[in-house]
Amino acid sequence: MSNQLEKVKELIALRNEARLGGGEKAIAKQHERGKYTARERINQLLDEGSFEEIDMFVRHRCYNFGQEKKSYLGDGVVTGYGTIEGRLVYVFAQDFTVFGGSLSEQMAMKICKVMDMAMKMGAPIIGINDSGGARIQEGINALAGYSEIFQRNIMASGVVPQISGIFGPCAGGAVYSPALTDFIVMVKEISYMFLTGPAVVKTVTGEDVTQEQLGGAEMHSKTSGVAHFACETGDEGLDVIRRLISFIPQNNLEEAPVLPCEDPIDRLEDSLNEIIPDSPNQPYDMYQVIGAIIDNGEFLEVQRDFARNIIIGFARFNGQSVGIVANQPQYLAGVLDCNASRKAARFVRFCDAFNIPLVTLVDVPGFLPGTGQEYNAVISHGAKLLYAYGEATVPKVTVTLRKSYGGSHIVMSCKQLRGDMNYAWPTAEIAVMGASGAAAVLYAKEAKEQADPKAYIAEKEAEYTKLFAKPYNAARYGYIDDVIEPRNTRFRIIRALEQLRTKKLVNPAKKHGNIPL
Ligand code: HXC
Repeated sequence: MSNQLEKVKELIALRNEARLGGGEKAIAKQHERGKYTARERINQLLDEGSFEEIDMFVRHRCYNFGQEKKSYLGDGVVTGYGTIEGRLVYVFAQDFTVFGGSLSEQMAMKICKVMDMAMKMGAPIIGINDSGGARIQEGINALAGYSEIFQRNIMASGVVPQISGIFGPCAGGAVYSPALTDFIVMVKEISYMFLTGPAVVKTVTGEDVTQEQLGGAEMHSKTSGVAHFACETGDEGLDVIRRLISFIPQNNLEEAPVLPCEDPIDRLEDSLNEIIPDSPNQPYDMYQVIGAIIDNGEFLEVQRDFARNIIIGFARFNGQSVGIVANQPQYLAGVLDCNASRKAARFVRFCDAFNIPLVTLVDVPGFLPGTGQEYNAVISHGAKLLYAYGEATVPKVTVTLRKSYGGSHIVMSCKQLRGDMNYAWPTAEIAVMGASGAAAVLYAKEAKEQADPKAYIAEKEAEYTKLFAKPYNAARYGYIDDVIEPRNTRFRIIRALEQLRTKKLVNPAKKHGNIPL
């Protein structure tokens, strides 16, 4: 065998060794835990055969605790690039088979390298997290590594999309990298995120909690809102990431891909002409409206189980990607509260950062009153949404279906917040407040003087309803651009979006605004 062949053989052997990560035993253990290995995950995430791995020969350089005797090719993370539906993405996947995927200085260097490449090439970066946190043997060097990653997360924010899959443990300060990214995908029973684990919680607060209760996918998708997707399996999690990528552009200077659309653009949805119940207190399901107007009913909902009074997610109109924000009358009457406001605000900002037009469907009775909300700073959270819409320069199309009262009318992408096309259904009620509240305030004194105060208030309420519970007052002043037939909504939105394709609007130059965080 020639010298060269000998060396090629050595290369192949080294590659095979690297591909085994922490070794066959560790891989078997990973499978027993119900988890895929880093490479299996990457292969499933990317288009078949598209993955190009880099830094396969990197090893840690730690000499504490006998670490020099224990090192693996690739050192705990698999990095590189590939394609999803033919589009370039950068990836890193922590390899739990090597020191529990814990982060070493060299691992951080590998992750930072692909993050830098993603920025240079203007492509999304996808991180798969499955790690025991900072590599304990490396001490401060591991911490420095995290800091390098966080700084890059911050610089990449709003420049390239960043997606985090949490496919195992992600604890301590390590959670801050995913938290800085745009979307977090978790897997039920397998992934968890918390700053301090159950043992520390028990010592400090005396609380007895399981990992799942403290930081599982269910909790983060329903209660904290930290996770954007809670999937049943790892397969589903990877699929969600692929779907997400299909709706978003490569970077902040590009637009999302436009797909061929077979759903007729002028499809009339007669059911929408009868969807609003006669009683203003009766709910209907906003999902039905969304499903009826978007291309093929295909909706990728974000944060489905968190603050269900507002719905956010991606859809397409005539193949063009949009972000949908819609009040849900079926949950808490679609009221705006702290969680709904911050949920929608962050989504609006993501869409604006990445040139994705916003379609807002309004049926909102107002902000939720009470100490619970005020103590939790509903003023600041509501202002976040107001700020996000007012700051957004992407095309904004708003359709008011029914209620749109007071502050919540303004916040939900009204005309004066630079809404481009603001439509209303004939059932829209655009006013300062609802009829019962208005009558109670205006006629409280007079009512007391009446023989039947209740009947008097009811009469005034009916008067107010007749006068204000309609779209034509707003239309009269040009605060909405047109009153449209509900069954025609899809077509009107598509027309509006087409018209707005060349929209140019630039905010004043500044270092950055001061959104009420
Ligand atoms: C070095 C680690 C490690 C770590 C796990 N391992 N975490 N090695 N540093 N942080 C090793 C284990 O020793 C074990 O090695 C292998 O990975 C697999 O771990 P297991 O414990 O066998 O797996 P499992 O039972 O599934 O438990 C997973 C785990 C647990 C829950 C993550 O390993 C664990 O609690 N690890 C420590 C977590 C932690 O406290 N990390 C530091 C947090 S501080 P062998 O050789 O036996 O297979 C931090 C600060 C970050 O992260 C700050 C950023 C700003």
